[in-house]
Amino acid sequence: MDKKILNRYNSLEGAESYSGKFKRHWTERINDRNERNLVSALLRKALKGKSIQLALDLPCGYGRLYPVIKKCANRVVEADWSFHLLKLGREMRDNPPAEPPSPYVRATALSLPFRNNTFDLVLSVRLSHHIRERAERHQYVREISRVSKGWVIFTYFDQDSIKNRLREWRRRFRNKRSKWTLSRSEIQTIAEEAGFDLFYSTPLSRFFSGHRYVVLRKKNSIALP
Ligand SMILES: C[S@@+](CC[C@H](N)C(=O)[O-])C[C@H]1O[C@@H](n2cnc3c(N)ncnc32)[C@H](O)[C@@H]1O
Repeated sequence: MDKKILNRYNSLEGAESYSGKFKRHWTERINDRNERNLVSALLRKALKGKSIQLALDLPCGYGRLYPVIKKCANRVVEADWSFHLLKLGREMRDNPPAEPPSPYVRATALSLPFRNNTFDLVLSVRLSHHIRERAERHQYVREISRVSKGWVIFTYFDQDSIKNRLREWRRRFRNKRSKWTLSRSEIQTIAEEAGFDLFYSTPLSRFFSGHRYVVLRKKNSIALP
């Protein structure tokens, strides 16, 4: 895990900055709206409009995607490494009075404090590209798969995306580090070992983003709709 990035998110200043990121500029507002729409569409595609009991949103940040996932899950556990983002998320949440408050858990995605097969669905957005070591990126995918008995939806920075290939080409002239990527074949191998099929995969944006969404489905799961 990259210490500098982790410390930044886990500081008050970093947490406040991230909670304003998708509101500051109109382009970010459009990105945010498009991403929420994409997550909604993926949830519909996987769950076929049915509801699930228990979902995990990790890392939840300040809860940007909570309203999207809550539409199809009776209960959502919000988890993140940053105390400040968890606190901001809790302050920003309007729990309807009839509902029990959402559970918030401080956890690292590399070693989750949950039993195997706890959740019907795990949503994990925009974390993998912050993990410096490839072995830890693999560990992260294994960990989010381990705690799901149904679905895993997550993002990674795609090694084969146009954005990444352009960046690698530009690196010949500029001193910029490589992105911390994964490839489809790595995902497929880890998914297979964890007992999942690669159900669906799509880029966040073909030209403007290197992030790719993946939907994994547990093989032979009785928990699936
Ligand atoms: C780019 S934000 C994404 C948050 C949220 N998924 C979203 O899309 O708005 C990255 C998040 O990862 C969290 N994070 C970083 N390292 C982590 C780790 N090892 N375990 C859990 N969360 C981590 C940060 O605190 C931050 O909230």
